[in-house]
Amino acid sequence: MSRSFGSYQDEIYAGGLRGVLPSLPMTYGGWEAGARAALPPSVWSYVAGGAGNEHTQRANVAAFEDWGLVPRMFVGAERRDLSVDLFGMRLPTPLFMAPVGVIGVCAQDGHGDLATARAAARTVVPMVASTLSVDPMETVAAEFGGTPGFFQLYTPTDRELAQSLVRRAEAAGFKGVVVTLDTWVTGWRPRDLATSNFPQLRGHCLANYTSDPVFLAQLERSPREDPGAAVLRWKEVFGKALTWDDLPWLRSLTSLPLIVKGLCHPEDVRRAKDGGVDGIYCSNHGGRQANGGLPALDALPAVVEAAGDLPVLFDSGIRSGTDAVKAIALGATAVGIGRPYAYGLALGGAEGIVHVLRSILAEADLTMAVDGYPDLAALTPDALRRIRQ
Ligand SMILES: Cc1cc2nc3c(=O)[nH]c(=O)nc-3n(C[C@H](O)[C@H](O)[C@H](O)COP(=O)(O)O)c2cc1C
Repeated sequence: MSRSFGSYQDEIYAGGLRGVLPSLPMTYGGWEAGARAALPPSVWSYVAGGAGNEHTQRANVAAFEDWGLVPRMFVGAERRDLSVDLFGMRLPTPLFMAPVGVIGVCAQDGHGDLATARAAARTVVPMVASTLSVDPMETVAAEFGGTPGFFQLYTPTDRELAQSLVRRAEAAGFKGVVVTLDTWVTGWRPRDLATSNFPQLRGHCLANYTSDPVFLAQLERSPREDPGAAVLRWKEVFGKALTWDDLPWLRSLTSLPLIVKGLCHPEDVRRAKDGGVDGIYCSNHGGRQANGGLPALDALPAVVEAAGDLPVLFDSGIRSGTDAVKAIALGATAVGIGRPYAYGLALGGAEGIVHVLRSILAEADLTMAVDGYPDLAALTPDALRRIRQ
């Protein structure tokens, strides 16, 4: 399954010969600056912001600079294979799009979930669709084309509603359920607090609830007639503070692969594994939930070791292809892109996301070419050296 993702640069240089320059920026800094200019200030600060003084968020990114990839020569990595096996599927790349709850409102037309699903269809980079979306999961999944998608569950306090959401995800053709563990309550986010801005409380991104028969049955009047009551009910049911006692129930919700998101401690990984999960998702939510924590990348090696033969998905701080390569060398099976694709969407809709993903893939591919790593299996911890201690 080797594809030349690096050939994106040939397209761009060939365009230059015809006088066509790229219409979108080529770096994360450019995507970020462009999105800042394109998005309404409240959406921008919600996406860009994090918990506390955002130290953990910055540390997530800086952690990648502590590692350097060692170049190997005489390898002749003329063709690179970036494909991975994930839950019985062979995917051409190790990337996926992390769940982003307000991705819907990052698009100019207000339907960013659909644009993301279309970008997934075009790139074969799976989307993990958030529970919090502008369009219902069935409509989102209908745009995936042949690319597998995953559904991310914010576990409601109401078990019947949780079951209903998961049943719908199964029926819509999602290939796995990602349960997010670190967000049953919102972290302390000064940027949003300063503007008293929390999109869901304003009724945004609740389509999976307002299209759900169990949720609707709990309302006296329809969300159209009484939107305020729907938001209030949503607030009541949104987040269950899960304990280990809930894991057997979570496991029983679906026979699809069950992946738990937010694990950073090896002991939690071992217990989740014993509880029968199919995948571990190492993440600190991009530093949005708790400040003062470890960079997620620093937690990754021990998580990988504890996970044993389970696949480890990773996100938090990936900004480039070289970051993705480093996370894989530290043991990640698949790597989640978060804010970068949200910014691509803000800049150029589905086309903007495709550009961001192709740029990250091209850089990963060309880094592997130059440094002599022909496939992901060649990327082991031995490929890296610590730059600073
Ligand atoms: C605006 C925004 C909304 C998010 N919404 C969700 C969500 O609905 N569910 C979830 O599990 N994670 C959510 N996340 C976390 C991402 O899945 C991912 O862990 C994080 O973006 C990784 O950090 P990075 O974007 O800085 O690389 C969100 C992140 C952002 C930036």
